Amino acid sequence: MSSQELPPHLVIPVPDEGWPARFHDVDGRRYMSLGSEIYAPTDPTIGEVQSLYGYWATEHDNPYDKQHAWIKSVGYACADLISFYLGGETDGLRLLDMACGTGLVSQGLRERLDIATHVGADLTSEMLDVARSKPDLAGVSLVIGDVRKPMFAPNSFDAITGSLFINHLGNSQDRIATFKGAREMLRPGGLFVMIDTQNNPMREQVAAEFYEAFEYAALTHEIAHVDSVAPDGFMLDYYVGQA
Ligand SMILES: C[S@@+](CC[C@H](N)C(=O)[O-])C[C@H]1O[C@@H](n2cnc3c(N)ncnc32)[C@H](O)[C@@H]1O
Repeated sequence: MSSQELPPHLVIPVPDEGWPARFHDVDGRRYMSLGSEIYAPTDPTIGEVQSLYGYWATEHDNPYDKQHAWIKSVGYACADLISFYLGGETDGLRLLDMACGTGLVSQGLRERLDIATHVGADLTSEMLDVARSKPDLAGVSLVIGDVRKPMFAPNSFDAITGSLFINHLGNSQDRIATFKGAREMLRPGGLFVMIDTQNNPMREQVAAEFYEAFEYAALTHEIAHVDSVAPDGFMLDYYVGQA
């Protein structure tokens, strides 16, 4: 298969003979499986991220929200971590969900926490449109934003969450800029919770970069999500950074 044959949304039908579990190389470029025949380049351009998620948000026959309904429970785990690390002092909480997508994590967070100011930011307008259609997210300000640049002034948030996006930042420079930007937007003592899949081949590097960016950092939780989509469980890393 040549790159010319790749459809613009980067959905690559799995050939009959099957592909390696997670990666596939096409014309010298590496693609990573995100599930449901969707493969993302490991070094995507902004346009490719928007094209891929623009398609997966609603057009794909297994849309993102339907396939990933379980991600709401990631919001529950984030809420527990935020309460724990902020010593239960969550009154008037100001929270940013970066790379919020369709808002599944934010939905879980709102079930568990009373959030006074809640912002969700993402690159892909179609993902945000799905989030905007959800009644339980009516109180959330949903905006276009790129995680690699601080989107808000220093000291704007008590907590920031960011789930399942770091694999789309193909280089160290972008990841470090993202972590440092998150730290900058937090008040002193504020908390960043980042969630990633445990089988990210860049796991060690991501962890080292994360630890460097925060005053205090820990990789505390590894939670198995078991449901019909992931019958054998789905291990996630919860990175916690305190500013
Ligand atoms: C797998 S989805 C995760 C969405 C949501 N956090 C969740 O856990 O369901 C990845 C999201 O990251 C967004 N994304 C990727 N790169 C981004 C960037 N540089 N800035 C903002 N959003 C980005 C995509 O648009 C997509 O919505």
